[in-house]
Amino acid sequence: MTRRLLLGAFLFHPGGAHVTGWRHPSAEPDRHLDPDFYADFARTAERGVFDTIFLADGLYLWDRYPSGIDHYSQVRPEPLTLLSALVAHTRHIGLAATVSTTYNEPYHVARALASLDHLSGGRAGWNLVTSRYDEEARNFGGDAHLDHSRRYERGAEFVRVVERLWDSWGDEAILADKVSGRFADASKLTTTDHRGEFFTVRGPLNITRPPQGHPVQFQAGGSPAGQDLAASTADAVFTRWQPLGEAQAFYAGLKARVVDHGRDPDRFAILPSIRPVVASSRAEAEDLAEELLASTPDTLIVEDVSHTVGQDLTGRSADEPFTYRPDTDTSNESRSPNRLAEWSRAADRVTARELYARAFREQTVVGTPQRVADEMEARFRGGAADGFIVQFLTLPSGIHRFVDLVVPELQRRGLTRTGYEERTLRERFGLERPRVAASIGETRV
Ligand SMILES: Cc1cc2nc3c(=O)[nH]c(=O)nc-3n(C[C@H](O)[C@H](O)[C@H](O)COP(=O)(O)O)c2cc1C
Repeated sequence: MTRRLLLGAFLFHPGGAHVTGWRHPSAEPDRHLDPDFYADFARTAERGVFDTIFLADGLYLWDRYPSGIDHYSQVRPEPLTLLSALVAHTRHIGLAATVSTTYNEPYHVARALASLDHLSGGRAGWNLVTSRYDEEARNFGGDAHLDHSRRYERGAEFVRVVERLWDSWGDEAILADKVSGRFADASKLTTTDHRGEFFTVRGPLNITRPPQGHPVQFQAGGSPAGQDLAASTADAVFTRWQPLGEAQAFYAGLKARVVDHGRDPDRFAILPSIRPVVASSRAEAEDLAEELLASTPDTLIVEDVSHTVGQDLTGRSADEPFTYRPDTDTSNESRSPNRLAEWSRAADRVTARELYARAFREQTVVGTPQRVADEMEARFRGGAADGFIVQFLTLPSGIHRFVDLVVPELQRRGLTRTGYEERTLRERFGLERPRVAASIGETRV
């Protein structure tokens, strides 16, 4: 079978993946709660034969610094609600929602994702996150998160329970026999009867097994604990964009972990994010990138960098050099490599603007459709990616440009699909429908 490059269309802030993409002349910030805005996003991704759309999410408003409210466009619909609406506007594309295992219960999540899978005919995906920022903890009865490692332990138990709930109903359990009056065959139903460290869940689920058996599971943790959970349970991983050598090392390391867990590395996709700034000429693309970078107000640059490096730089100008002396421990938020902190540590003195621009530059691929396709192809063929999560810096213009300019180039090279052949998202990822789990600890009703 030809190996195809997988494509996911990323959506977090509706103004685009660049923090002030909403200011771009093409942006439509007055439509960020308009269903047609999102229908256009999903249909455009489907026109580009993307495998899935992917809605990122967090359970908070980033307001630890004033510019979070003053300059950031954070208002957006809740992912599962939005995806349910998008079912009616799309026919083939996967619909993946980010759902936290720290601030939900497995029964809710199993039920909602099974519903989305049924309503979409097998297109649901779950980006399992353990939640990152303390702002989220404060919305759920605490001041700070559970410890990083405990969040992953809870996540591991959470996903086991969800899978067993999805397996509640055998495929032939519903009889709906009007003559005999028997609606269901109780012998084909399994209670979950889970009693674990974090959850007690009897089951069974009040919706039949999802068409995919289990909706496709994504994760994005980059720490050893995050990678281990993904390697043991996920079908695919989203990662940061990294320089090629680091991306290859990450790819090889994570595939080795998958093998260590007794799983097939070819049935486990690694999807780095890519932020293309594309135009028909290199100069035009460079101008667009510079225009976007310049659209970020200095206060937001200083406050964004303050958060990322864990050092309060407010009150300084974006051009005032500082020496790295962090005053906040951000290790409970994330144990993925922190590039800005590494650069700050390595430099004697550095400014917030330099760090911000360097991160922007390192994360973006600026140029013609051919240049963007070259970069994607090199990583796909060079052991660094099985596909990409495309982050559009401006919306809706970014996705339109990518689909009109880059997708035809990828298709011409035979890298991506030109039409939808498989029925479900699982099949598109080359995954089998899982068999119902062995009945350890389960009882028949
Ligand atoms: C491409 C990508 C997308 C992500 N999307 C989300 C998201 O939607 N919600 C979230 O809480 N975290 C998201 N994350 C963050 C990760 O889930 C995780 O919290 C972070 O990598 C820190 O975990 P770690 O300490 O295991 O590395 C994303 C990360 C990446 C690389």
